[in-house]
Amino acid sequence: MAAKMTVPRIREHKVSVGDDPLVMLTAYDAPSARMVDSSGADIILVGDSVAMVVLGYEDTLQVTIDDIAYHTAAVSRTNPSAFVVADMPWMSYHVSKEETVMNAAKLIRAGADAVKLEGGRRRLPMIEALIDAEIPVMGHLGLTPQSVNVMGGFKVQAKSTKAALDLVSAAKSLVHAGCFSLVLEGVPSPVAAMVTEAVDVATIGIGAGPYCDGQVLVLHDVLGIEQRVLPKFVRRYADFHGEGVQALAKFADDVRTGKFPGDEESYQLNEDVVDEMKLYGTM
Ligand code: KIV
Repeated sequence: MAAKMTVPRIREHKVSVGDDPLVMLTAYDAPSARMVDSSGADIILVGDSVAMVVLGYEDTLQVTIDDIAYHTAAVSRTNPSAFVVADMPWMSYHVSKEETVMNAAKLIRAGADAVKLEGGRRRLPMIEALIDAEIPVMGHLGLTPQSVNVMGGFKVQAKSTKAALDLVSAAKSLVHAGCFSLVLEGVPSPVAAMVTEAVDVATIGIGAGPYCDGQVLVLHDVLGIEQRVLPKFVRRYADFHGEGVQALAKFADDVRTGKFPGDEESYQLNEDVVDEMKLYGTM
């Protein structure tokens, strides 16, 4: 079993000093957590993407802190070697510092090793309150899906010089406030490279190109569990949906043609019981 990943090991992880890029994947339940951990991933993210890829919502705004705690508990019951990060959902860290800390505590008590939250400088007071409460925080900048309505859709961010420089400066502020790592989502590669160079903690990219200290993708996209249209930055490594449908159609066919269940899937009586029952005329 691999040694458990830790906050200091993730914080210090930089490709520029010769480290291999970190691997982060989402998982939302015990079987998916076991699969991700067995693959050797460094970090499991219990993402609020659960809203879209598991619960059937159009965006991530519908999930609550209790939903994420429920899924985090299922993941952490598997005791993964990978480090478990739980997403703070929309409205769980926007109202007050007290509420933010109590909500994050729910995720830590559910088994998370750290929490992740979206946004730039406006989140600094909440990040500082979490760090004060000894809760490790992963930041998330660029395309922040919880801001979908403000951004007018899921759009690549930081495309102008000003927006790119703002992003670099926000990244520095988040790290100064205590974030041990930053997710960079949906930003041009050169901007992610600038951030990765500017901060001394690990950056983990999704749709942010190769110049990050790690990469994250959503499990359902990597495995092809759904046939939805995928963003440009996803690479699909399997067709679980296609193979699953084929297997289920074969099962349906076997049931309808009497091929399932066979003897090997059925329980039998001992011979003496069969003989006895014959006496009673029941067989
Ligand atoms: O919720 C999620 O899956 C995420 C990743 C896309 C980084 O936040």
